[in-house]
Amino acid sequence: MRIYLIGFMGCGKTSLGKRLAEKLNFTFFDTDNVIEEQAGMKVPEIFSKLGEATFRDLERKVLSESALIDDVVIATGGGMPCHFDNMDFMLKHGKTIYIRMDPASLADRIENSHKKRPLVDHLKGDALISTIKEKLALREPYYMKADCIVKGESLKPKHVISLLFGEND
Ligand code: S3P
Repeated sequence: MRIYLIGFMGCGKTSLGKRLAEKLNFTFFDTDNVIEEQAGMKVPEIFSKLGEATFRDLERKVLSESALIDDVVIATGGGMPCHFDNMDFMLKHGKTIYIRMDPASLADRIENSHKKRPLVDHLKGDALISTIKEKLALREPYYMKADCIVKGESLKPKHVISLLFGEND
């Protein structure tokens, strides 16, 4: 089984993914981390030196490779489902879970995160919330195709497990 966690930047894909994988005894990986290892550069550096289009190509390559691994939880970059046929690819090759969160919570989490995010790092407060709203309007049509949609606030691995397997723990 392959579980893809999708959703906007800051919704908690990586932290939930790690805990979920631990509970299921699955492998975990985060697409941004794999891209960074393969490129030998951090995501912001890839954006600034090679451009976003190259980042999206690298993202697609890592996504294709994910289909070779089984019993895995994959935390994806927030833009991944919205490029190429990536969303359909994930729907075909695994279970997709959209971690949904409102723009104010996302902004708060992004502002307090250590992760460098080239698309939003220059923004704060209301400007950040407005940008999140604009991007979400474009991205949700993709995210909403997910097999399961879960509320990100106070989300626990057991909630996802019960959705996927109908169990409580
Ligand atoms: C991006 C999200 C980031 C990272 C890159 C672009 C996006 O990942 O892939 O900065 O387009 O939403 P997170 O969703 O883990 O922040």
